[in-house]
Amino acid sequence: MSKSDGLRRHLTGLLVSELAPHERLPPERVLAEEFAVSRLTVRRVIDELEREGRVYRVQGSGTFVSEPRIRKSVELTSFSEDMRSRGLRPGSLEVSCERVPAGAGVGYALGLSPSAEVLHIRRVRTADDEPMCLEHSYLPAELLPGGLEPEELHGSLYEVLAARHGLTLHRAEQTIKATVLDPDDARALGAPPFSPAFLVQRTGYDVRGRAVERADSLYRGDRYSYRLTIYR
Ligand code: GLP
Repeated sequence: MSKSDGLRRHLTGLLVSELAPHERLPPERVLAEEFAVSRLTVRRVIDELEREGRVYRVQGSGTFVSEPRIRKSVELTSFSEDMRSRGLRPGSLEVSCERVPAGAGVGYALGLSPSAEVLHIRRVRTADDEPMCLEHSYLPAELLPGGLEPEELHGSLYEVLAARHGLTLHRAEQTIKATVLDPDDARALGAPPFSPAFLVQRTGYDVRGRAVERADSLYRGDRYSYRLTIYR
């Protein structure tokens, strides 16, 4: 491995695991000494990292770690927005909402005790009137003291939370798993029992870092594809 490869590897390691976005890299002079290379070589390696968008330079101050671009490119969208962006009309069927204890799993995800109350909203989400997804959302009851009105449950939940309850989703942790539909869920979605599905689990937080929603969304595997715009 050449010295400049060694330097590149060292800097990449720093970017990935040690430095946070907007932290400063060690000065070129220090890196040149440490890796026994010329400052020109250091500059070339940093030029490459800059072209890749991993660092940025500030005249007279140094070189800093960029925000990971992926964070900017993946948007936190609602079901309604997802469907509209595909040219489909979003809707909901079989809507119900009840106040229940969070239980261990939902409580853990929302940072609540298992006995704390949550609003459990169950909806079959449709696209152009066709069932697409069975969605269970759990919201801490303490954030919605008056609950939700029945008519608030038929449109976009995110719009209602923002416009009427002052709760705006800012960030979410989300996992997507492959699964199969059990007979009850399959019936609700008009799909054959045990047909493939995606389970999307999302915990959404507001700007203050409060967990606002935990949702389990089961998407029909034969109707849904997961689309992302990603940048390099
Ligand atoms: C997605 C998310 C859910 C969220 C829903 C809100 O499906 N996975 O967590 O509840 O969007 O969608 P809408 O605002 O259309 O009700």
